[in-house]
Order: sequence, then C-alpha cells, then structure tokens
Amino acid sequence: MVNSPKSTKRSEKDPEAEKNDIGSFVRKYSDKSFNLAWEFLGPRLDTKLAPFKKNLLKDVKGNVLEIGPTYGTAMKYFNIPEVTKYTCIEPNNYFYEGLKKEGMKNGFSVSFIKNDSPPVPEAQLGLKGEIKNMMILNGSISTESEIQKTIMENGPYDSIVSMFVLCSVNNEKETIKAIKKLLKPGGKFFFMEHVAQKRTDMLKDNAVHYFQRIVSPLWNTLLGNCHIHRHTDVSINSFRWKSVKMDKTGIVKGLGVSYLAPIVYGVAENN
Ligand SMILES: C[S@@+](CC[C@H](N)C(=O)[O-])C[C@H]1O[C@@H](n2cnc3c(N)ncnc32)[C@H](O)[C@@H]1O
Repeated sequence: MVNSPKSTKRSEKDPEAEKNDIGSFVRKYSDKSFNLAWEFLGPRLDTKLAPFKKNLLKDVKGNVLEIGPTYGTAMKYFNIPEVTKYTCIEPNNYFYEGLKKEGMKNGFSVSFIKNDSPPVPEAQLGLKGEIKNMMILNGSISTESEIQKTIMENGPYDSIVSMFVLCSVNNEKETIKAIKKLLKPGGKFFFMEHVAQKRTDMLKDNAVHYFQRIVSPLWNTLLGNCHIHRHTDVSINSFRWKSVKMDKTGIVKGLGVSYLAPIVYGVAENN
C-alpha cells in the first residue's frame, strides 16, 4: 500500500499481490482480455452514467490523483481549468495509449513513468510546454513498489477519483485508508462504485443478493479481480471523514450492471 515510501519490495505475505504481480503470465493475458472487454463496455457505461458523472465530477480540481482511469473516461467531466496537475495510477499497460490521447485532447502535457524504471522523456509523449502536467504511473495502488514514492511526491491531493476501481483492488479498506492519507485536510474523495446488495424484505433485492454470492467467484476470475459482492459503501462510511455524501443511481435503463448490483456515488471530505 501507499504507506511506506522506503519499501521497494512487495509484501511476501500477500498472496493476492503475488497473484496480480504486474508482468506475470496470468496478469498479462487477463489485462489484455479486460482491455478488449472494456473497449466495448467502457463507452456504454460512460454514456449511461454521464448525467451522474457530470454532477459528481464537476468539482474535481487542484492537484488530482485518479486510480484505475483505464483510458481516461472520467477526466472530461473534471473542472479542467482549475486542475493544476493530474496523476493517474493504472496497472494495465494496454490502456496507456488511449489514456495519453485523452489527456492530450483535454490539454495536458503527458509524461509516463514505468514501475521502477526512469521516466520516458516528456517530449516523446506530450505537448511539451503545456502548463498542466498529467503523469501516467504504471503501477498499482495496492502493491508496494518504487512507484509509490512518486504518488506521494506528487501529493498531497485536493481531489482523488475512483470510478469502479475499489471493486478490483485486493483490499478496499486498506486502499481507502491510503487514499485518506494522500488527501490534503479538506481534500475530497470522489467515488462511483457498484456494491453488494443487502438483504431486505423485498424479493427482488434478496434475489440479487443471492445471485451476487453465487456468481462471485466466477465473476472475480473472469472480470479482472472485480468483486461483485463487496460492501464498499459500508467500508467508505467506516472511516472518520469530515462529511460523506453518498447517493444511489437506482436502476439505469439499458445498463445491465445496475440490475445486478446497486451503484453508489458521492464525495467524502477529509478532516
Ligand atoms: C472497471 S475498471 C474502471 C474503469 C474506469 N475508472 C471507468 O470508470 O471507466 C477498473 C480499473 O482499475 C484498475 N485497477 C485495478 N486494481 C488497481 C489498483 N490496485 N491500483 C490502481 N488501479 C487498479 C484496472 O486496471 C482497471 O483499469
């Protein structure tokens, strides 16, 4: 996690980190298949959720960190004139080309840092001379490595954005803890996540609850470590924030995932 700038080795006690080791055989192929799936799903999800995202992300400004941006679907909703610097941490190599293009389209000068290797010269990648810097970090917020030094050096942050990422990290509570540490006092955590359906006295809710529990192992294996039955909303609320504003989208017409899992979104302000 983003706790210790000095730690350069992955925790030997974390089998999940081992399973998700960047560059491992499994990771390479699951990253490619997720990239192909997301080329189809990502734009559809983005279009259906655009009204919610516009409203949520219009206050993203200042020094910004985004976790798991894929090819940058969220940045167009930010208050771009008031963004001073934009750091992205994304472990999946297959998204960098699209992410770089989207950054340049939105007026950023893009640089790229690969895990544990020197930065690629900016001139090769971005529009050199632009005022606003966007930095793409090749790494994971959950795995200890050199890249975390850069995340910390670029912080503390005014805004941290996570759109459908806390379902995929190995430990969402540890990730939220790390996010809180990276925020300035008064800094804001903007999130949109699908969550576990709680049991209620409604048949429909209970059907979704048990469906999630049954498909969870297969879902997780096929969809890039995504946990469909994760109480991310409860986890966010379990931390001491200055304030948390959280809403649900309800069923979004034509968006399959909203039938299979409630979608929550909101802002948590750091104290
Ligand atoms: C479902 S996609 C989210 C896509 C994007 N945020 C959007 O809303 O379109 C999850 C993304 O999180 C990334 N991810 C998974 N674990 C991560 C971690 N530990 N740190 C940073 N990113 C991670 C994945 O590579 C993937 O790009």
